[in-house]
Amino acid sequence: MGKSILVFLLILCVDFGLHAEDFITKMEYAKMLYSNPRGIGCNKCHGEKGEGAIIATYKEKGKKITLKAPPINAVSKDKFFESLSKPHKVMPTYFLTANEIESLYYYVSNEVNK
Ligand code: HEC
Repeated sequence: MGKSILVFLLILCVDFGLHAEDFITKMEYAKMLYSNPRGIGCNKCHGEKGEGAIIATYKEKGKKITLKAPPINAVSKDKFFESLSKPHKVMPTYFLTANEIESLYYYVSNEVNK
């Protein structure tokens, strides 16, 4: 390998490092937030892509009870924002900014329709 190529590669590497944050796409950021929203990850209850999931099953007075998190990939944007801004029975209360909610909405509404 010639010396100039080595120098070129070195510059390329340094440049890569400096601009690393540019390589996180909107979708990657949204996905990260979905599993780590400063609190228990949405994926833990609603499934990896917001498809909904069973949180737990247990017996109460001999009856089998299934606790489910609803699918959130087809919820309207208004409802999505409203749900994340009020307390729920099972779902924890989050303190997310409008941009973060927007990002989460982007994630669940796009991930599944691909
Ligand atoms: C501990 C489990 C749990 C976690 C974690 C959780 N949810 Fe939920 N979510 C629920 C349950 C259960 C409901 C149904 C309402 C209730 O009983 O709390 C719900 C309801 C919703 C709804 C309303 C759906 C509808 O059709 O009305 C949205 C939107 C939602 N969650 C989004 C999220 C997002 C985004 C996150 C992450 C920031 C999240 N949830 C984290 C359990 C969870």
